Amino acid sequence: MKLTVIGTGYVGLCQGAAFAEEGHNVTCVDIVERKIKMLNDFCAGLSEELPLFEPGLPELIRNNSAKDRIQFTTDLKGSIENSDAVFITVGTPPKENGEADLTALKKVSEDIGSAINDSKKDYFIVATKSTVPAGTHKIVKEIISSRTNKQVDIVSNPEFLAQGRAVKDCLNPSRIVIGTDSEKARRIMLDIYKPYHEQGIPIYLMSNVDAELHKYAANSYLAAQISLTNNFANLAKAAGGDWNKVKEGIVADTRIGKFVHSSPGFGGSCFEKDVEQLTHTFEQYDVDCTLLKEVLRQNKLQKQLLAKRIKNHLGSLDGKTIAVWGLAFKAGTDDMRGAPSVPLIEGLIEAGAKVKAYDPVAVNESKKVFSNFEKRDMICYTEDKYSALDGSDALAIVTEWEEFIGADLGIVKNKLKSPIIFDGKDLFKPEEIMRHGFYYSCIGKPDIRDQ
Ligand code: UDX
Repeated sequence: MKLTVIGTGYVGLCQGAAFAEEGHNVTCVDIVERKIKMLNDFCAGLSEELPLFEPGLPELIRNNSAKDRIQFTTDLKGSIENSDAVFITVGTPPKENGEADLTALKKVSEDIGSAINDSKKDYFIVATKSTVPAGTHKIVKEIISSRTNKQVDIVSNPEFLAQGRAVKDCLNPSRIVIGTDSEKARRIMLDIYKPYHEQGIPIYLMSNVDAELHKYAANSYLAAQISLTNNFANLAKAAGGDWNKVKEGIVADTRIGKFVHSSPGFGGSCFEKDVEQLTHTFEQYDVDCTLLKEVLRQNKLQKQLLAKRIKNHLGSLDGKTIAVWGLAFKAGTDDMRGAPSVPLIEGLIEAGAKVKAYDPVAVNESKKVFSNFEKRDMICYTEDKYSALDGSDALAIVTEWEEFIGADLGIVKNKLKSPIIFDGKDLFKPEEIMRHGFYYSCIGKPDIRDQ
């Protein structure tokens, strides 16, 4: 089938490429000409660069482009004319007050409405993949209907991809949610997702509003579980216990999910943004949401924890240098939105320290986030993880990159001025740490003071 995907961010590019891999003919549209040129250059073999880092994406785009199953253009109108369905995958970032900013979604809806009106076809499906508050399908419908009298069905079709494994998640999602009251649209959407269904992936049919809520509820469950986990991990540390041991048994109860790893808080573009938007939806319908607000408050506190602990241990940070391993909000992505590395680095620098940072892929993003600190020589970046340790007073780890897990602790000890590690991701075995003699502080267990 012919599909148009509007917006070439993580969702649009990964889902567009996955649709192509399933045999559809996909046109990805974006208003940013630079991105479309980059994608076309990539497909033509003129460049190796894509607008974003996501494992497996270059291969998927290249293979499907070679088979003429994926194209990139700024021509929304031309693309829609030939499509069986149009997917909206533009961003819905948070506004200052935490509500989802629907500006891009509304603009795209206007453009779609005009393109539909000018088209020769009479019937269209517009599917919203962007994460949007309950009821947004009505806004999309109204905007499109204000531009055309043609029959348009709006489908709410949320995505559930996690960055770093977005390609895998788009090819093999846990479930597909199709929200619409139109029988005709439902049939066409089921056709689009037939290759997925044939692989045994469950499809859930529901109303638009249920599909919109589904996405927020799913992310809120995950976020709440992480905040609760971090509360327990902090308690375990304070009480002399080991959260890793506690959680081993906890997850034997399959009713409890897998998100039970202690961390310096959850990051990413979704959890904070979606839970915060959801609190507005609760308030809109006058339903109590104290629990969700607390999930966010706990996460904010958790993100400040590492910087606090470092300050407590080292005393004054004036004139000290801290090596930071990891900038991305998690391994497998270059994304720093909501990353725990940000409050950590801000906290350290505000307390007088300098930061030597290393990340295998997120340095360019970090340079945008910390341009002011870089200008003032408060942060610098190294080409490899060990160089960040030269002359540093301690090491702080905030991303679980594979190359950190395999680090040679002998080299780490030799390079650091003092053998001190604050590990937000609990990457090393206590025996290894003790063999080398470190002061080692994790989130969810007592410190090892074996220097
Ligand atoms: C999340 C959801 O998983 C995905 O379904 C949704 O579509 C978008 O939001 P993402 O933000 O990409 O995806 O990453 P995820 O793997 O869920 O991790 C989010 C954050 O939670 C990361 O900072 C991660 O380190 C943290 N986390 C995760 C924990 O702190 N503990 C855990 O047990 C799991």
